Amino acid sequence: MNKIIVANLKMNLNYNEALNYGDILRKYNYDNIIVCPSNIHIDLMHKYGVVVGAQDAYYLNKGAYTGEVSFYQLKDLVKYCIIGHSERRTLFNESNEIIKDKIASCFFNKIIPILCIGETKEEYDNKKTFEIVEEQIKDLNISGEIIIAYEPVYSIGTGIIPNDDGIDNVHTYIKKRFKEIYNIDIKVLYGGSVNLDNCKDICNIESVDGLLIGGASIDVNNLIEIYKKVNL
Ligand code: 13P
Repeated sequence: MNKIIVANLKMNLNYNEALNYGDILRKYNYDNIIVCPSNIHIDLMHKYGVVVGAQDAYYLNKGAYTGEVSFYQLKDLVKYCIIGHSERRTLFNESNEIIKDKIASCFFNKIIPILCIGETKEEYDNKKTFEIVEEQIKDLNISGEIIIAYEPVYSIGTGIIPNDDGIDNVHTYIKKRFKEIYNIDIKVLYGGSVNLDNCKDICNIESVDGLLIGGASIDVNNLIEIYKKVNL
């Protein structure tokens, strides 16, 4: 089974760069690469045949919400949406409650949520990792496929990565809890400082079903090299 490679492009590419990105990627036509560009580039990636995810959306379907884009508006263009990324939680004050509404809206609109969870450095130091993860995954209303991305907050963009056991223990815990609480088997991706050097080792951990990549995915050729190293 191929590992899933998700590129979270965040707020990086401009229009021409996005065109180039999609154009290069479509020539490879790999299974299991999901690209999450800015909303303004979703349509062009979709037209290039790239499997697309959004980075976030608003939980109501339509109405007077200037500046927002809803899952309902995205549903014919994207298969996935990242939900609850730590940058949304910290910079845009997204609570677990709002995130639950967004997950519900994903299911309603037949978009697969990629729910990001993970602890801060302080929480890690205070041995609260499992407590935080439990808080982030409990009381969800699951009515379709969902993917979890474990992204320790202190790992994002820092070059600091938990050791293999650290990743494996949390991934195994998440899978066990989803089985116990919701009676479903789920895929868990790892995210945080993934690059070409460490991608293979991380993917060799059995409980890791794929990667959610930020900085190292901005260069499409680097993303392709990561995909090849992990899957070919
Ligand atoms: P980096 O890969 O840049 O650490 O970012 C990870 C991330 O936030 C992916 O969602």
